[in-house]
Formats: sequence, C-alpha cells, structure tokens
Amino acid sequence: MSLHPSDPPPQHALRRRALHWLGDAIHAQETGGLSWHWSAFRSRKAWQPTQAAIERFLLSQKYPFEELLLIGGSAGWMMSSAWLQQFKSIKIVDIDPLASLFFRLLHGQALKSSETRWSFERRDALQELPTLLKEQPKALVFFDNVLGQQCFRLKDEELVERLLRQIKVTLKGRSWGSVHDVYSGPIDEVLSSPSIKPTLITPSQLKTFSCQFGEMRRDLAQKAPPSRGNGTSAQPHSGSQRDGEAETDTHSDTDTKPEHMIINGERKNFDDGAQILLQAVNATGEWKDHLSVEVFAPDTPSVLMPWFFKPNYCHWLQAAMVFE
Ligand SMILES: C[S@@+](CC[C@H](N)C(=O)[O-])C[C@H]1O[C@@H](n2cnc3c(N)ncnc32)[C@H](O)[C@@H]1O
Repeated sequence: MSLHPSDPPPQHALRRRALHWLGDAIHAQETGGLSWHWSAFRSRKAWQPTQAAIERFLLSQKYPFEELLLIGGSAGWMMSSAWLQQFKSIKIVDIDPLASLFFRLLHGQALKSSETRWSFERRDALQELPTLLKEQPKALVFFDNVLGQQCFRLKDEELVERLLRQIKVTLKGRSWGSVHDVYSGPIDEVLSSPSIKPTLITPSQLKTFSCQFGEMRRDLAQKAPPSRGNGTSAQPHSGSQRDGEAETDTHSDTDTKPEHMIINGERKNFDDGAQILLQAVNATGEWKDHLSVEVFAPDTPSVLMPWFFKPNYCHWLQAAMVFE
C-alpha cells in the first residue's frame, strides 16, 4: 500500500468513516435514520391510511417483474409487504446503515413465507444509479419516498432540480416508479372535521386524486406572498427548511411551475390545481415545494395521496409507475 503525502493518516480516514456511518445512522443526511424510525414507529397508526393508499397503488400495477431494486427503502415503514412478496428477489439500497435491521423486523417474516430473497446495501443510490442499473439489468426500480427528501440533503435548489429531472433520463428503457413528497405544509387541525366541511380529506376519510402535471413553464410574475389563516391562499414554494420551520424569502424571483394540472380528469391551471390540493386538506400558512414535480415526464398519469405526517402538518405524495 502506498500513501500519497497529502493523504490523511489512516486513523483520520477511519474516524471520518465512523462519523459518517454514525451520522447516517442518526439522521441519514436529514432524510431518515433513527429519527425517521422513531417518528414512523410512533406514527404507525396515524400513517396507516396513507400506507394503505400506497399499497392499493402498488398492488394495482400489473407487470411481470421478478426482481426489485428498492431505493431509499429504509425499514419499509410505509411499504406494503403484500407487494414485496410478489418478487423473487429484492435489493434494498439506502444510506442508513440500520435500515436492514428494521426492515427485517417489519417485512422479514412475510418475505420468508413468500420465499422472496432480499439483500441490503449501504450506498448512495442516486449518485450510483447508473452502476446499480447495470448490476440489476432486469429489475423493476422503485424509489421509495426518497426523491422528495433530496432538498433536505443537498440544500441547493438548482442541484436538486437537476438531479431529479435527470433520473428519468438515466432510467430510459427501464421500468420504474416512485412515491415521493411533492408539497408539504401546515394544516388547520381545528377545522379538519368532515362535519364542518364535507369536502375535506381527513385521516379517517382519506381520498386520493389522479393527477398529471403539465410541462414546466417560467412564470415572470412575482410569487404571491405567503399568507396564513383560512388556507385558501396557502402557497407551495421551494426551500430547504424541515417541517414547520419558518423560511425567509423575498419572493422576488421568477417562478417555474407546471403550465397545467389535470386533477381527477379536470384540466386546471397550476395555481387553481394547487389550491384544490391545499383546500382539500385545510392547508394554512406557507407550504413547501419539495422540487420533485419534474421527477416524471410531463403528463405522466400519477396518484396524489395526502399523508397526515403530524396532527397539524400534511404532505402530498405523488406516486406513478413508468413501464418500458
Ligand atoms: C423518508 S425515508 C424513506 C422511508 C421508507 N421508504 C419507509 O417506508 O420507511 C428516506 C430514506 O431515503 C434514504 N436515502 C436518502 N438519500 C439516499 C440516497 N441518495 N441513496 C440511498 N438512500 C437514500 C434515507 O436513508 C432514508 O432511509
């Protein structure tokens, strides 16, 4: 072994790797880790309706795949055992070193009974996507609630948008799917009772929307200022703050957004479509844009599912499959 004069001493490299491992175990670069496992464990009941919606979506897909490459699978807190059981083999790739331990607890028994082989690798699946695709040329690829988290990890809007836009290009010729956050923000819990507003979606009356986002277009008008109160004028907008953290924004930049949305078969301009999503969950205040609206090609049929993450905080998840 030869050491370059500028190489750090081996004990430093080892220490750096150990710290990296520990950091990923604790918070997975702000996208998961022990903090995610703890929240998910405590919220199992509250998240069940969204988990059921994800399961319905996954089980409604018909395809002949035997292998699955599951990216950001973590412990699979929101994942369907019944869907996983349809595969002969699954490779889970996640940066969280403890993910496989919890995955075994949640899905190990079910996968044993379906004789599904599974393995885990701790890798940066987004950086190594081309290599992973070569290693598993026949696998269906599924991004499991990971793409909407990249804004927390990379903290650079342009970089995140470029990374997420590129994924479908890298996956050309492959069958793949994703479920990810598109928008999230505060909701007015007090009013979220169906007896007050029958059109409201609540955890006990969870409804999903079919949705297609149109081509992106640059809107030269200034962004509307954020507002608080009745939720009707809540605005999704981008930024890297976590749930509930305030963000300062001058709102003077140009806004890039889909030129239309088709929600439940009805074509709307983006702002009207966004208001439908926000009002459906009684949104209030400022919402966060997870910069993931270009993950799928324009007009890809998808399903939008509300995820009542906390009693006063909701996410809209988008799920779609692309078969090639
Ligand atoms: C919100 S959690 C996913 C939850 C998981 N789907 C579940 O149901 O429990 C996001 C996961 O993505 C992983 N992750 C984030 N960026 C990643 C990357 N570049 N490569 C691999 N895994 C990543 C995190 O470690 C975390 O486990």
